[in-house]
Parts: sequence; C-alpha cells; structure tokens
Amino acid sequence: MILDGKLDASVQAAAAALQNGQLLGLPTETVYGLAADSDNDAAVAQIFAAKGRPANHPLIVHVADAGAITCYAKEVPVFAQQLIDAFWPGPLTLILPRLPQAAKASTGGQDSVGLRCPSHPVAHAVLKACQQLQPPVWGVSAPSANKFGRVSPTTAQHVATEFGDELLVLDGGACEVGIESTIVDCTRGVPVLLRPGSITRDDIQQACGLRPLSKDELPTHTPRASGTLLAHYAPNAKVRLMDAKQLQSALDILGSEGKHIAVYHRSPLRCASPAITLRAMPQQALETARELFGMLRDFDEIGAQLIWIETPPDTTDWEGVRDRLLRAAAAG
Ligand code: TXA
Ligand code: MG
Repeated sequence: MILDGKLDASVQAAAAALQNGQLLGLPTETVYGLAADSDNDAAVAQIFAAKGRPANHPLIVHVADAGAITCYAKEVPVFAQQLIDAFWPGPLTLILPRLPQAAKASTGGQDSVGLRCPSHPVAHAVLKACQQLQPPVWGVSAPSANKFGRVSPTTAQHVATEFGDELLVLDGGACEVGIESTIVDCTRGVPVLLRPGSITRDDIQQACGLRPLSKDELPTHTPRASGTLLAHYAPNAKVRLMDAKQLQSALDILGSEGKHIAVYHRSPLRCASPAITLRAMPQQALETARELFGMLRDFDEIGAQLIWIETPPDTTDWEGVRDRLLRAAAAG
C-alpha cells in the first residue's frame, strides 16, 4: 500500500509500523530503502528474507540526527566528525566502530556499523517520529528496496512493483540523487572510500583534509558488502559499456540484425534502424545519476535485449555513475 509521505498521519503510521517490527518502503534522497527497526533482530531478519540478501552483507543504520550516533558507535574519529559536520544530513554513510549491543543482526555481528543521516524530508520526519515513540526507535536499517542484485528503486512505484501491495510504502516523490550514498570507512585511521556516490573523493578531501584511499589500496578488506560486488544492478537486458567510436561501429555493424538495442549515449550518433532506441545521457554527472536506475528500468520496459552505454568521463565527479554502470555491465 502506498501512502502519501507528506501527510503527518502517514508518517505516524510508518513510525508505528517500524516500532511494531514491520517493514516499510522509505524514500530517501538517494534511493528508496526497505526499512526496519535496527535493534529488532527479527524485523531486520525480514529485510534479508524479503530481499534474498545473504545475512553477512551488513545494512546501513539511518538516524534522525548526529546525536543518535552514540546509540550505535563506540567512537567517532576527528576526520569522521568533520565529514558529519560537512555532509549530514545527506548522502554520506560512515562506517564506525560498533557498540557491542547495538544493531546486531543489521551489522551481521561485525564490529563496525554503517551510519547515515538522510536529508529527505519524509525520511527525516519518520526518523524523528520514531525517536519520539515510547519506547523510542533510534535507528532504522534500510538497504535499497530491490531484490538482491537487481536495479535500485527511485520511486515509490518501483518499490511496490518489487515487493507487492502488502508492503507499506511512503511516497516521497522521485529521488533527487538517484544513486546510493557515498560510503566512507572510518575504522582504519584514514578515510577509505568503499562506495563512490554523489559526494566525491574531492568533496571528502576538502572537508577533512585527507584524500580517501580506495579499497584496493588496502592490504585486506573484510566486510562483505553487496553494493560492492562486481556484478550488481542487473536489468533484464544485457548491458555493455563502450566508448563513442566503438559504439558507432557496433551500431553500423550490428544495428540491423533485428535485436532491440537501447543506446544511452553522450556523443552524437548516426543510426537509421527503427529497432534501435537512442537516449541522450545528460552532460552533468549529478543529472545522470538522478535518472540512471530509471533509465535501466525504462529500457527493460520497452523490451530492449541489449543496452549499450557510452562510457562516461574518467573524472572524480563521474565516479559514482561509472561504478554503477560497470557493475550493471558485469551482471549481464
Ligand atoms: O543510499 C543508501 O545508502 C541507500 C539508502 C536506502 O539509504 N541504502 C543502501 O543500502 O544502499 P544497501 O544495503 O543497498 O548498501 C549498504 C552497503 C553495503 O553494501 C555495505 O557495503 C555497506 O553498506 N555497509 C554497511 N554496513 C557496513 C559495515 N559495517 N562495514 C562495511 N560496509 C558496510
Ligand atoms: Mg543495494
């Protein structure tokens, strides 16, 4: 059932559902989440079951404000605090050392916890209402509201389509950011970028004075994380990334073979075949992120068998989009 997230009655109903151990489709500025009370292990287990997600892939705990960090994290390094001051509320998740009793099932028992304070007004209203309940709910765990490995949802309708009408979903409109939050591991003494997003490496460096390392610059990385699996974000069609030249030659050679091909391109292309659907990629990374998952769904909906995408520029502002496209292509 989809409820209007702007109405206070819907927000109260959503908070009560979370307190009762039920699941909720929650809008955030990045993507829609499938939410449950972080400290209710049985409710959190339902998230893993509904998504078909392995229990050792930890979930992010969402909080109403930075004050709630003390319910989940043992300590906050100075550089992490600087990131919180600069980017919360907003699309940034921090991995911090976990308090032993907090969010056990949600973190898969790892000694760290991912925390994020979303800026979406509906998410914020729900998290605030949760804090005011008796007993309060301090944190809400929410992975993206899609089945494991599939495309993340950016509208309430996407969530309802994925999980059916029984799930309570708050409608908060189309997501502004469109790709999942930037994740920074703050448990290793220096910031480590686990997942790129709309907050870039450069933004992080500017806020805390430290250039974040990449995962592969570390000797080992233990926590398993679905957003970091190579193959992810799979639409039904096969996705391929190509540069503009390869794309044009592929269209010239294969475009007439009768397969329905959808093309997402930045450079001008020549193409005569009616079996080919062209869609222009926005010039800006943030705009492209906003429509990225919707584009993959649209192409599936029109029955495309192949999705050919022009590789975006190799600059830090495009890192989040490039990451999602590479994973979508690896899934094919
Ligand atoms: O934008 C977002 O972050 C969205 C919205 C709903 O907030 N949520 C989201 O959740 O993308 P999910 O479950 O699809 O991705 C969570 C990722 C995992 O893939 C994992 O990489 C990381 O968060 N994560 C969570 N807790 C962690 C931990 N303790 N250590 C390492 N990584 C962790
Ligand atoms: Mg996800």
